[in-house]
Amino acid sequence: MELCDERDSDVGSWEEVILIYRSALKQILTKMEILNDEFQHVHRYNPIEHIKSRLKTSESIVKKLKKHGHESTIQNMVRYVNDIAGVRVICSFTSDIYQIAEMITNQDDIKVIGVKDYIINPKASGYKSYHMLVTIPVYLSDRIEETKVEIQIRTVAMDFWASLEHKINYKFEGMVPVHIEKELIECAKMVSELDAKMLSLNEEVLSISENQK
Ligand code: GTP
Ligand code: MG
Repeated sequence: MELCDERDSDVGSWEEVILIYRSALKQILTKMEILNDEFQHVHRYNPIEHIKSRLKTSESIVKKLKKHGHESTIQNMVRYVNDIAGVRVICSFTSDIYQIAEMITNQDDIKVIGVKDYIINPKASGYKSYHMLVTIPVYLSDRIEETKVEIQIRTVAMDFWASLEHKINYKFEGMVPVHIEKELIECAKMVSELDAKMLSLNEEVLSISENQK
């Protein structure tokens, strides 16, 4: 682990930085749970299917810094590695994604510092998701640290696709055979069609239940 070499002070600051990111992650997770509970209470509906979260390992942090030509220092990791704390929110419908994103954006203590909408602009691989880079204040005994958290919001179908594609990439170490790449793009199209169909079906069902009231 190159980020914290034998020097005690480095180990100390590494541990402190990770503690701060872990706290930021906890806060975002609590916020998501509150939003989901409140949404259930008001609308009798859960926009969130489930949530996953992770802290990047020191090995992956070092790898990412190297990839971008930065020295492995704690300062660089805080500055350049935006996904040390990561949250993945999985919902049923595409419309839920934008609702969740808006609810997050409306929270005063959260600052949105970047958005990548890979639903409107999918990656060449076929990847779709809504990414937000936010900061959230972590209150320590002597200061407040605005801490970055990467939030990925996607439907169950998009998540299914992304995990398979990730596994395939891992297996072939990035050198995926062209025909498999093409099949994946085909699958991504099917995912989009499925998401669109499920959304319109759900809207139809909702309007029927509205009319029956
Ligand atoms: P990274 O160095 O991968 O973090 O990329 P980035 O900082 O340019 O951000 P980007 O928006 O490209 O992607 C961030 C994260 O989104 C990745 O770490 C993955 O979790 C996910 N992601 C992005 N592209 C793909 C993709 O093509 N396939 C899959 N399965 N996941 C992806
Ligand atoms: Mg990443």
